[in-house]
Formats: sequence, structure tokens, C-alpha cells
Amino acid sequence: MAKRGSNKPIRVGVLGVGRGQSFAAGASEAVGMKLVALCDTWADRLKQVGKRYGVATYTDFDKFLEHDMDAVILANYFHQHAPFAIRALNAGFHVMSETAANTTLAEGVALCRAVEKSGKTYMFAENYPFSAANQEMRKVYRSGEIGNAIYAEGEYNHAAEEDWRLSISPGFNHWRNWMPSTYYCSHALAPLMYITDTMPVKVNGLSMVETGSKSPNTARVADAGSVILCRMDSGAVFRIMGIMISSEHRVRYEVHGDKGLIGTATGNAWGGIRIHREEWLREGKPVERSYSPDWPEHGDLARRAGHGGGDFWTNFHFANAIRSGKPPYLDVYRGVAMCTVGILAWKSALADGAPLDMPDFKKESARKAHENDHWSPWPDGSGDGTAPPSIRGYEKPNAKALARSRGVWKRIGYKGKDV
Ligand SMILES: NC(=O)c1ccc[n+]([C@@H]2O[C@H](COP(=O)([O-])OP(=O)(O)OC[C@H]3O[C@@H](n4cnc5c(N)ncnc54)[C@H](O)[C@@H]3O)[C@@H](O)[C@H]2O)c1
Repeated sequence: MAKRGSNKPIRVGVLGVGRGQSFAAGASEAVGMKLVALCDTWADRLKQVGKRYGVATYTDFDKFLEHDMDAVILANYFHQHAPFAIRALNAGFHVMSETAANTTLAEGVALCRAVEKSGKTYMFAENYPFSAANQEMRKVYRSGEIGNAIYAEGEYNHAAEEDWRLSISPGFNHWRNWMPSTYYCSHALAPLMYITDTMPVKVNGLSMVETGSKSPNTARVADAGSVILCRMDSGAVFRIMGIMISSEHRVRYEVHGDKGLIGTATGNAWGGIRIHREEWLREGKPVERSYSPDWPEHGDLARRAGHGGGDFWTNFHFANAIRSGKPPYLDVYRGVAMCTVGILAWKSALADGAPLDMPDFKKESARKAHENDHWSPWPDGSGDGTAPPSIRGYEKPNAKALARSRGVWKRIGYKGKDV
């Protein structure tokens, strides 16, 4: 195993070869990483991807963990990261995990404890904070130009054509068909936390059902989108909106301070930023200015990576954290907090917006209170299965919707579990 501080490439294995391919491609010399193994239960796809990278392949996670490597990147199913992260940490590996870090409170508790016990690096792979615009907004916010954040909005709405959406959600029980509308909140929330350096302390949520032509013709049993309100530890209020409302694909951030406003200039968060200050707050500065920032460093590498450069920065920060032994900014506590917002907002949405307190996952007393909270909406989850995937409850898709979905899954060569 490569020692902390060593200049040897960090040898990385990736679990999941869908999204996982971005991490595989990013495990490059430029960040001091080397891809050495891939793991996926989808054997045909694994074989193809393994061939492209020329590395060892495994269909069994335990066998994969026996490979001689330093770190594991988790890009398996959305709702199954925590148990795999804990197994990898216990086996002595550094771990970077895709969202969600945890999908129950008990998993959040167990994950924080496992990271502390292992002494290994854990990073939550949120890539949206690292676009050039979001890094610049953090810099401007820290300069004090817009004062203290009072209110902020984050939006990640992934409008999608339904046959395409089904093609990335193979099998009736696939997480994308079941995921409650609040759970994928980290793309909207993480940049706001990063810009303002705040943590959520109270949460509520409301979920929205799409009643138009789309809903009856799909295997998706979850709602279209949600709004989450967070009270932050600074007293500010953040509003988080997403996730798959058909209107428009949009990623947007805005922070209102007591001296001005900063936000993404258009509906595309990879573009420019806008700073606004009222005339009476001018202090010699222009009232309004917009520009397209570059990254403070490594722009040439970030420009070639996906998600507004974020896919470069996650690997970069993970590698640096491993080498230095210092926790990354997106450490286990921030990762678990962001994902717990999604869980609590769902509890709240099912109670039509009742507010709920966020546990402080750094405190063992708070962890003790939630260590057995397995409340879970997933069909195959470890919880008691009491949480429905929609505010309408659970409605099995009709025969026509299932037939359409199965047609799409057959076309992409999916041979796994269907219902
Ligand atoms: N940050 C981003 O921009 C971004 C973008 C896309 C996806 N994601 C996240 O990445 C993760 C993966 O997304 P995806 O679109 O590839 O999902 P997916 O469901 O299409 O793929 C998951 C892969 O993991 C494999 N897998 C599942 N369980 C396994 C196991 N026990 N052992 C071995 N392999 C297993 C599956 O066969 C599949 O190939 C999700 O958590 C998703 O939220 C993040």
C-alpha cells in the first residue's frame, strides 16, 4: 500500500462501470492516480470496459477488495454506498463515494464511526461545488463583498425524455425508478454549503407530483420533484429545488447577502456569474457585473472533464487528501449531512412539510440516538419498508407502462432482475 506522503501513484479500484467510468478516466497521472481494477456485477458491460482500460475485472466485491490497491471509488447503486464504503474502509482502503453517502440515518452513523475507526481518507464525491463558477463564488463570498448570507437558492432539475431516463434505470426496482424526490439533493445543496461554509440544522420538504401525460406511462413510482428548506447553522435559509420536473434541465445557484447578491448568470451553472449590489451599498463598486471565471489552477485539465470540470476536481482532491492525510473539504460529516437532508426532507414531505432537526453526526450522543434508524423507502432496503416512494403512496405502474419500460431495458441489453 502506498504510504501517506509518498509520490508513488495511488492505485485505485472503481466499483460500478456506468458513472464509474468518469472516475476511471480521471484516475490519471495528472492527479497522481493509477486505475488498477474494476468491479461490476453486469458481466458483459464490465468485460467491455475492462478491455478498454486493460485492468483487472471482478464481479464479486470481496474478491475485488483482495486486489493490491490503495483506494476504492464507489459508483454502484445510489442507495447502497454506505455498506460498501464501510467494508472497504474496514479492509484498509481509502474511499471516495458517489452520492448518496447514506440513505438511512443508521447508515450515516455507522459510516462516520467507520471512517474515524479506520483512520483512512473518506471523501464524498460531490462534483458540483468545483465548477469554475462555484469556486469563484466561494472566493467572492469569502472576500466579504456580498456580506453574510441571509438566503440562498440551489436548483438541480434534470428534465429528461422518458425513454432515455428508462434506459439509465434498468429493472423495475432500479433506484432511479424509486428514489424519493428529496434524496438527490446534494447537487443543489453542496455548492451553497461550499460557497458559504455552513451546515444545515433544520429541514423541511414538500414533494410535487407530475399529473400530466408522463406519469401513467412509466415504471417510475417516485414523484417529479421537491422543494426543501434548510435553516443553516449561520441562521440563513436555503431553498433547494429539483429533481426531474419536465419543464427545463437547469442547474442554478444564488446567494443573497446583507450587502449584495451573487449567483450563476444563466440557467447553466457551468457559465458565468453575476454580482449585484444596490446603489446605496456601492462603496465605489459597479452596481452590477457579470463575467465568466476560469478555475484558479488546472483549468486545462478541468475543461476536459465532465460536469463543468467537477469530475477532474473530485479525483484531484481525493488524491491530495490521501497524500497529505488531511480530510478533504467534502469529508464524511459534510457528505452525511447533505444526504441526511434528503432523508429528513422526505420524512417531512410525508407529513406535508413538518420541520425536523438535523443530528450533528460529529457528536456520539446524537449518533447514539439514530444508530438504529433504518427508515428506508427502497424496495430492497434494509429498513422496515414503511416509507413510500411517493407522497401518493405506492402505486404499481400499469401493464402498458411496464411493457414500454421492458422494451427499453431489452434494447440496452439489460439481463438483470426486472421486478
Ligand atoms: N456526480 C454526478 O454527476 C453523477 C452522475 C451520474 C451518476 N452519479 C451517481 O453515481 C452512482 C452510479 O450511477 P450510475 O448512473 O452509473 O448508476 P447505475 O445504476 O446505472 O450503475 C451502477 C452500476 O453498479 C453496478 N453494481 C451495483 N451493485 C453492485 C455490486 N454489488 N457489485 C458490483 N457492481 C454493482 C451495476 O451493475 C451498475 O453497472 C449513483 O450513486 C449516482 O447517484 C453521479
